[in-house]
Amino acid sequence: MIKKLTTLEKASLFGGRDVWHTRAVARLGVESVSFADGPTGLRKQVGSGDHLGLNASEPATCFPTSATIANSWDVELAEEVGQALGAEAAALDVDVVLGPGLNIKRSPLAGRCFEYFSEDPFLSGKLAAAYIRGIQSCGVAASPKHFAVNSQELRRMASNSVLDERTLREIYLTGFEIAVREGEPWTIMSSYNLVNGVYANENKHLLTEILRDEWGFDGMVVTDWGGGNDVVAAARAGGGVEMPAPGLDSARQLVDAVAAGRLDIADLDARAAEVVKLSERVAARRATGPVDFDTHDQLAQRAAEQSIVLLKNQDAILPLAPQTRVALIGDMAITPRYQGAGSSMVNPTRLVSAVEAIGQFDVDLVGVAQGYRRDRRPDAGLVAEAVELAGRSDVAVVFIGLDEFSETEGLDRSTLDLPDNQMTLLRALAARGVQVITVVSAGAVVDTGWEPLTQAIVHAYLGGQSGARAVWRVVTGQVNPSGRLAESDPLALDDTPAHPHFPASGHHSYYREGPFVGYRYYQTANVPVRYPFGFGLGYSTFEYSDLAVDQNGVDVTITNTSQVAGADVVQLYVGLPGSALVRPARELKGFAKVALDAGASGRVRIDFDDYTWRHFDVSADQWQVEAGQWQVMVGASSADIRLTATLDLDGVTPARQPGLDGYRRADLRSITVAEFETLLGHPIPAEPNAAVLAIDDPLSSLARAKWPPARLIHRILAGNIKRAERRGTPDLNVLFVYNMPFRAIAKMSNGMVSMAMVEGIVDVVNGHPLRGLRSIVAGFFANRRDNRRTQEFLDNSREAGR
Ligand code: BGC
Repeated sequence: MIKKLTTLEKASLFGGRDVWHTRAVARLGVESVSFADGPTGLRKQVGSGDHLGLNASEPATCFPTSATIANSWDVELAEEVGQALGAEAAALDVDVVLGPGLNIKRSPLAGRCFEYFSEDPFLSGKLAAAYIRGIQSCGVAASPKHFAVNSQELRRMASNSVLDERTLREIYLTGFEIAVREGEPWTIMSSYNLVNGVYANENKHLLTEILRDEWGFDGMVVTDWGGGNDVVAAARAGGGVEMPAPGLDSARQLVDAVAAGRLDIADLDARAAEVVKLSERVAARRATGPVDFDTHDQLAQRAAEQSIVLLKNQDAILPLAPQTRVALIGDMAITPRYQGAGSSMVNPTRLVSAVEAIGQFDVDLVGVAQGYRRDRRPDAGLVAEAVELAGRSDVAVVFIGLDEFSETEGLDRSTLDLPDNQMTLLRALAARGVQVITVVSAGAVVDTGWEPLTQAIVHAYLGGQSGARAVWRVVTGQVNPSGRLAESDPLALDDTPAHPHFPASGHHSYYREGPFVGYRYYQTANVPVRYPFGFGLGYSTFEYSDLAVDQNGVDVTITNTSQVAGADVVQLYVGLPGSALVRPARELKGFAKVALDAGASGRVRIDFDDYTWRHFDVSADQWQVEAGQWQVMVGASSADIRLTATLDLDGVTPARQPGLDGYRRADLRSITVAEFETLLGHPIPAEPNAAVLAIDDPLSSLARAKWPPARLIHRILAGNIKRAERRGTPDLNVLFVYNMPFRAIAKMSNGMVSMAMVEGIVDVVNGHPLRGLRSIVAGFFANRRDNRRTQEFLDNSREAGR
């Protein structure tokens, strides 16, 4: 096939035809491949696509978000959800599902935490692999994203993640490695950001040396939407098909580069072959019947039930006794918060609120009160009404959480706090002496410093379209909660390891905390948290006994010591005290979700695997095992180790590298630039010249443009974002544009704008309006002419070469 394609045809395959399709080569039967978001549910847009969800999409089952399902620690469940996503995609003739997202939650403030699984790579990787297997079992490709080290929304398309190689491998890539090796995805999405100075999509180290050569990935890389930069560099590095629609300008650049000897034809052949292979893989899909949306709705509910985390249950107030008189309070009980905003947003097939669902349960609903305004404004009347209602009831079940604006693609949170007006409500209820059960709807951890005001906290995360029913099943005891946090819940933002460097507002984002992400930090530095990674209560209690360790794994007995059937998540951690290396005190290396009847015991086996003992030796450029007496820990959370054993391992004896004492203690606040540079192995890069804007600066930098009208444009954009915040609904397109670099104007205009025209635009904003305008106008006509000619070449399928 590759031999039959002309150079221009190969180049044309390396860019999308429109927002959601690759190009076809009709004469050779290479069919176009279609994409749709995403991991929470399918978002196939109807009509013209706009990629950020403003245009309506086909109804699809809205599952709990990945952050929610991660709390289930249930790989089979994740695979079932993946399969349902694949089936819905196949039914709508979508070839590639853009997900799952598995970036590491470096900070709980990250705007897309709700879309990602965990702060831990092992858990993320196992769940992502399960989603991928599920999706692809339907003949639809999965596209795990965003590869890699894509941790913040601020400047998300123009941010350079600076981190040491070992942290890169062990923390930020291991999840992808597991996903690729165990899920075998047919595609993978490169991220917007740069990694150590090179765009992820042009990063040969990531895309060729690691992804393909080391992990054996045999599929197609696709850029994130608008994430293309230098198409020739990308083709050379093993980068992705440029989406959404870079126009034929990109194709011409590739052809020219081949002609000029700047791009090896073998690289272009490889990239084109990957597109053709994907097209063949998805074409082999068998026709599927119509989707059974009822079954998928039930699955969505079950997934939510398995993922709800009970954080507090004072005096066993939960489950509620039958006929308890309930005051149902909170705007989120009436209008559910069940998914995040952005490209993952689903048009659900149905949606149930807590108010609608409560009728099916054996409680006495005394009344419903809104309690607070969603737009965060104080309202004493709503509070008084709620308190009065609660006063006539046995308990108040209060739905609180993050509003829509707090959890959206394109925007990081600035605080872990819930809105003040919700706190006013909780304080007023507590002052009245009301028994309060809080149900939190949020796709991430929130500050729960208000915990003394309530008797129970049910963290429902973002439970998808039937999440409200799942909450009632837990609250009334029909379901015994078994969700466990897939992230740590810190006592304060100041305690989080990436603070105060997150999010980075300049070009470089320094990962100064190294490997100490989440519990790896809290456990090593002995920083107390409110709820540790892996924590969650249930209506059962479990005892751990008889830990036995052999070379291949551990066996442990778990006993349900309660009167009710329930499930626990048994977690395996390992650590090497006295290690010569900078190393977290313990790291998750295995887990098993175990269901046991009341009083029953079971023997649980967790095997070690390739990831259990390894560390990345940067100087040898390979994985090694450090010799020593390892600790093997089994527990119910990262902070609740129940049994420990030791295992002597042979391996290497690394030298103790000097200058890393702060890292050894995980004393992150003491880390100086010099110590970070020692970890990095090189000096930190300097910030680029701020005075002159470049094509890969984000539009947010128009604030410092020389040309006054450009600064006015910035004021208008920033004003729109502020207004949207006041309205309480994020304007996704404005957020996207604000963080988008100039070059993306070309990459997303479907051929209307060429890179030469973008250079002109940048010239204008840098204070050369006439010169810039001349380039834009000349570029416009040249681009139009060249596009016409290129298209003719393609249509006539003649050999390219202008
Ligand atoms: C997001 C991706 C998404 C893509 C297509 C991008 O802005 O980062 O996660 O798949 O848009 O909608």
